[in-house]
Amino acid sequence: MITHRIAVPLAGILAGTSFLFVQPAVASPPVVEKKPVAEGYGGAVSTVDLDASKVALGVLRQGGNAMDAAIAAAATLGVTEPYSAGLAGGGFIVYYDARHKKVHTIDGREAAPRAMGPASLEGIPFDEAVTSGLSAGVPGSVAQWELALRRFGTLSLKQALNPAIEVASKGFAVDQTFYEQTAANAARFKDFTSTAKLYLPGGAPPPVGSTFRNPELAETYRQLGRRGGDWLYEGALGAEVVATVKAPPVTPGSTRKIRPGLMETSDLKAYRALERPPTKMTYKGMDVYGMAPPSSGGSTVGEALNILEALPKVGLHEYLEASRLSFADRGRYVGDIPGVPLKELLSDGFAKERACLIGERAMPHPAPPGNPDGRYGPCPVTPSGQAIATPAEGPETTHLVVTDRWGNVVAYNITIESTGGNGIVVPGRGFLLNNELTDFTFGPAPGDPNLPAPGKRPRSSMAPTIVLADGKPLLALGSPGGATIITTVLQILVNRWDFGMSLPQALAAPRASQRNTVQTQAEPGFIDRYGPELTLKGQSFAPTPEIGAATAIEFLRNGRLQAVAEPVRRGGGSALVTSERR
Ligand code: DON
Repeated sequence: MITHRIAVPLAGILAGTSFLFVQPAVASPPVVEKKPVAEGYGGAVSTVDLDASKVALGVLRQGGNAMDAAIAAAATLGVTEPYSAGLAGGGFIVYYDARHKKVHTIDGREAAPRAMGPASLEGIPFDEAVTSGLSAGVPGSVAQWELALRRFGTLSLKQALNPAIEVASKGFAVDQTFYEQTAANAARFKDFTSTAKLYLPGGAPPPVGSTFRNPELAETYRQLGRRGGDWLYEGALGAEVVATVKAPPVTPGSTRKIRPGLMETSDLKAYRALERPPTKMTYKGMDVYGMAPPSSGGSTVGEALNILEALPKVGLHEYLEASRLSFADRGRYVGDIPGVPLKELLSDGFAKERACLIGERAMPHPAPPGNPDGRYGPCPVTPSGQAIATPAEGPETTHLVVTDRWGNVVAYNITIESTGGNGIVVPGRGFLLNNELTDFTFGPAPGDPNLPAPGKRPRSSMAPTIVLADGKPLLALGSPGGATIITTVLQILVNRWDFGMSLPQALAAPRASQRNTVQTQAEPGFIDRYGPELTLKGQSFAPTPEIGAATAIEFLRNGRLQAVAEPVRRGGGSALVTSERR
């Protein structure tokens, strides 16, 4: 039954804001459970977390737009998914502006301090680099939130932070994923007084089912709302971040080797979130928009799709081989440097040249990069440069998608890099620092486009993606998982458009991730089902429990929306629509 106007705002969701209803909202039953699929009208959201999805829904139902809802949800994920997202992290937004029918992107990637050079990470064991001040990049999220709201939102930062403040103050229920992530980090969390105090109360991870509150983060958000991003980039909060990076609050008696960082308050002052043109390619008549460098997401997903389009048939073997080749090119050409040959990497000519290397058997690996020089010949081609493999990656980071009643769409990847970032909570502030600078190539690696440099942003794999058909949104999607983000997005698109799966099936299907490595990382379900036939083609697999925790929205006919999250991976996600009926 079509229902009535909501008489009162959803309990306190925008408490303290001057935000008013713009249009009558439609009442629906209160959201109480986490569901991976929701269909309906007028707005939709999918995140990994019920609280964050509810916040986005509340904003949408009260007349906020997709960007308002996305930023409010991102800030909430900083509370409920603090090991994947937070104000001291970074991310990428791909945004479809319905009024102007245009796709924009906002780069909120963390940056290297000015004191960092190509040799700064050389010789440091990866694990040591992760848990250090050295790995903390200049945070991008707050600048990104402000820019996104100013350009495309209707809420102030203060208003957008209010729901997250409420969740941080009142608390959220500890679920299995939060518990497991805390437990997996306990050994290093206990080595920092601030982190142990917050996340190991009484010396242990908070038990499943308990309520976790973060009043210090609530207060940090409150002050951030009042003072604005300058508090971080030019003020006292920034000074505290720098002090923590330079002298991490190491627990007395800890034997961990913890390197101090290079960040200065001048690095914070110099930081800017940036609007960048999206990557664009066309697949089967659909326009696929993604994130340009410093992310490799848009170019690598796009190149692989182009390669697939150049093949006479597309099956899982071809999916793996196209991914292998596009990762070879990503490693050689993509980074936060001038002159990335983006146009050529996404050209049909280059894709055809690369596609002719794909045969009935897996190609020798690792595959060398190609030559995106604009001069493409018939097969065979001479590869150029040295082969680089992209090694195993964990499941970290998070992605959310939102659309509103006006048809605006946000696909947003947020991260603090490793689960738990660098493991260091800024004392008294309730948030973890990122370790994004470990995304740089450590070197020595002469000519590598992803070596550290002053102010440079580490190459990312984040791939928030929006697909338009006939100029209208058709699909928006993304995933966590480091470099597996690229293959997860690619595999979902192939599942949906080449293998004819529905979007829920495309997300649920077992995954495999080929990143120019000898073995393809694959979920057990994938190996059981497809391993034997693919092994006959020369593919080989390394089992991994889970790849990605994707979120997506498909725009069905007549305004119907289908929001989709994971049914199982990472404990399942939460898809919601503003109204189940038109
Ligand atoms: O930007 C990236 O690609 C990664 N820092 C995202 C973080 C992530 O998924 C970590 N996973 N291993």
